[in-house]
Amino acid sequence: MTRVAVLKGGRSLERQVSLKSGARVQDALERLGHDVVGIDVGHDLVARLRVTAPELAFVALHGRDGEDGTVQELLEALGIPYTGSGVSACIRCADKVLAKHHMVDAGIPTPDFFAFNETAFKELGAADALPAIEQRLQFPIVVKPAGQGSALGIKFAAAATDVPGALVAAFSYGDKVLLEHHVDGRDLAVSIVDGEALPVVEAVPREEDFYDFEARYEIGRTQFVCPARLPEGITARAQELALDVWRVLGCRSFARIDLMLGAQTGELTVLEANAIPGMTETSLLPQAADAAGIGFDALIERLVQLALPG
Ligand SMILES: Nc1ncnc2c1ncn2[C@@H]1O[C@H](COP(=O)(O)OP(=O)(O)O)[C@@H](O)[C@H]1O
Ligand SMILES: [Mg+2]
Repeated sequence: MTRVAVLKGGRSLERQVSLKSGARVQDALERLGHDVVGIDVGHDLVARLRVTAPELAFVALHGRDGEDGTVQELLEALGIPYTGSGVSACIRCADKVLAKHHMVDAGIPTPDFFAFNETAFKELGAADALPAIEQRLQFPIVVKPAGQGSALGIKFAAAATDVPGALVAAFSYGDKVLLEHHVDGRDLAVSIVDGEALPVVEAVPREEDFYDFEARYEIGRTQFVCPARLPEGITARAQELALDVWRVLGCRSFARIDLMLGAQTGELTVLEANAIPGMTETSLLPQAADAAGIGFDALIERLVQLALPG
């Protein structure tokens, strides 16, 4: 029996998702016989961790602070072991631009992109470079904030007139935005546990243009196929690419890598890596684990054991 603090909620835009992930993790830990304390992360986090004195923190937070290395840094400072990746990998995963640069440098295919801070537009006239960028990326162009998840702030610009509005929307989520080549194709995810790739999941949206925030968390809005039915060789290649990303970004414990399979090109490209994948009923990593014969409780126990000092 281990004394585990489940860190959940927090103040990020993905608070509700985290509360669901956290509740599900907490239930599993209780079934597994651990001594569990749930902590809704806020101003008193450090004080509560001191009082609770857990042997382990299960970080079930998503988005800002919880997934970007901030909470991990605090746990390091307090000397509390925790699930998921360490500080540096969290920082690299949470920033899509940084992650993509690491991928490009390592020769891992990721859609072509340009990224700017708001100051580039306000002080350096970056808007004047938009025609050149549009020429290079070709419409439709995907505009997204560098530091969000759950498809928040992502817009597809079909023409030049859509770009300014999409940029404003993306900048409302953070000060770095990327403009990315749109891949017409299939949405795939490869989850990794302890350096081992799980079966590929394909997310097939039912109504929306793409796999958006609501579609992700409402049961029935998105159809998930796991293992994904893919052309010969694509499953192995997707898993191989995901493991490359895991290594390049320095992940540990678990992670989920999102990819696209181009419809015309048949090429795989990596969109991003999630340092703390969702653990809700509709989340992809638990589904992939299940398809690999690892039930939810077994998955949680494995993550606990991986995080405990050997
Ligand atoms: N370049 C792209 N081409 C096509 N679809 C994209 C592209 N970027 C994002 N999307 C769509 O938006 C979803 C979310 O994008 P992603 O980069 O994974 O960010 P996040 O999951 O953090 O919100 C993807 O799963 C995909 O459906
Ligand atoms: Mg994603």
